[in-house]
Amino acid sequence: MAQRELFLGLDLGTTSTKAIVIDALGVLVAEAVADHPVSYPRTGWSEQDPEDWWRSCTAATQLALAQAGSNAGDCVVAIGLSGQMHGLVTLDATLAVIRPCMLWNDSRSADVCDRWMRNPGLATLLKTTGNRVFPGFQAPKLQWMKEHEPAAFARVSHVLLPKDWLRFRMSGVLMSEPSDASGTGVFDCANRTWSTALLQMLGFARALFPDIAESPVHSSTLSVVAARALGLRAGIGIAGGAGDQAAGAIGSGIVEEGTVSCVIGTSGVVFAPSATWRATPNGELHAFCHAVPGKWHLMGVMLSAGGSLRWFRDHLATDAVVEAKALGVDPYDILATRAERAIPGARGLVFLPYLTGERCPIPDAAMRGGFLGLDVSHTKDDIARAVFEGITFGLAGNIAVLRALGLKVDRVRLSGGGAKSAFWRQLCADAFDAEVALLETEAGAAMGAAILAAVGAGAFASVEAACAATVKERACIAPGVNASHLARAHAKFDEATRHAQGYRH
Ligand code: XUL
Repeated sequence: MAQRELFLGLDLGTTSTKAIVIDALGVLVAEAVADHPVSYPRTGWSEQDPEDWWRSCTAATQLALAQAGSNAGDCVVAIGLSGQMHGLVTLDATLAVIRPCMLWNDSRSADVCDRWMRNPGLATLLKTTGNRVFPGFQAPKLQWMKEHEPAAFARVSHVLLPKDWLRFRMSGVLMSEPSDASGTGVFDCANRTWSTALLQMLGFARALFPDIAESPVHSSTLSVVAARALGLRAGIGIAGGAGDQAAGAIGSGIVEEGTVSCVIGTSGVVFAPSATWRATPNGELHAFCHAVPGKWHLMGVMLSAGGSLRWFRDHLATDAVVEAKALGVDPYDILATRAERAIPGARGLVFLPYLTGERCPIPDAAMRGGFLGLDVSHTKDDIARAVFEGITFGLAGNIAVLRALGLKVDRVRLSGGGAKSAFWRQLCADAFDAEVALLETEAGAAMGAAILAAVGAGAFASVEAACAATVKERACIAPGVNASHLARAHAKFDEATRHAQGYRH
């Protein structure tokens, strides 16, 4: 019998590394997770030691291989990488790490971003990269290092994104791919290459940044030393892989225009593939390269989606937690039942979900949330309804920007914690005015990375073909009768948001 062929997908997350093994048909064979620490040396700073990533990567891989059965390590023919985006890993001329990685949620470079928004200015940033710059992005963090750690900065010979450092640790090769490079702030996303014009304006050498190959391409091979540590064969290919959002989209089959994903976790992410280069006029959405060669995506990141509901549960609806405990159900189910009892629009009550500021489509880190239109007759059912609606309208605002760009949004694949509630799924279908579909399995970014490895090895003809063969929907909800009732509530929400933008603590 011919030896089975397996593919390993690794997703370097913020708190752990996930390893999954799939076979040549894309069927999940094994998955495992291993944690790594994060440190918060000061308010707004978050850092990790890349060697901790390597430890969690080897641990997760060994666990997954043990699950995949005897000989699995010999059967893995390629690896795909995915990871937390935007982080800054710096290497010196000997390729040693200079300082801990500053992560995607590290906001120390806010002042740099404010300055860059004035000079070279928003118009230049949009022209050269297609995007605004955010403190989480890689390049402003490099500028922060230049200004605050000049001695360390003087030693910087190479900068890498987190998952690309993992590739370096595995292969000795410095390489990136377009989807993750898009989140640095200095990548010309339209042309899938570094913006030499912007780099020159900002005073950074092009040579600091790695070369780019498309995501499915096996752009490096596993070294003997790394193979021994992971329990794999030396010399197997490592695909370019993708940033976690693009890899997650591939894991959910979001590769063709018209099908969009919406992931409701703490944040809410709306992700739309585009067959042509498109960017929003003021950078309302991220306009990044997709991990599908020759395609792009637009992405709206809402900072407090599920996070707003959690805050509501913990601070304003503690009675729901008590009720849920007595009934042996999830408190979120109690909140959804209450919301469902209220009429659409919550009789004029609006909740603004900007509890940690906003990123898309309103790039305003300082704005804050609230309730507007409270009336003595409002009940806790109305209040619960307003919270669900406010979050959903925030997500719908991102979908409205996609449609204004000419992208069709016929179908939204919903995942994350928010997809568990039937009430919320229907609310999304109504507010998005699109069919909402669920997936048979929520495989995530590690699956997307494994699919990219398999495509690069020729197991599938293309990323699109791999997704068609591996990703299956299990249910679909059509927009219902509430859609028109909600339109009025949505208009009120937009009006309230305009007020909130002027308000500062
Ligand atoms: C994407 C983003 C996060 C990080 C961490 O823009 O900020 O998804 O990649 O997961």
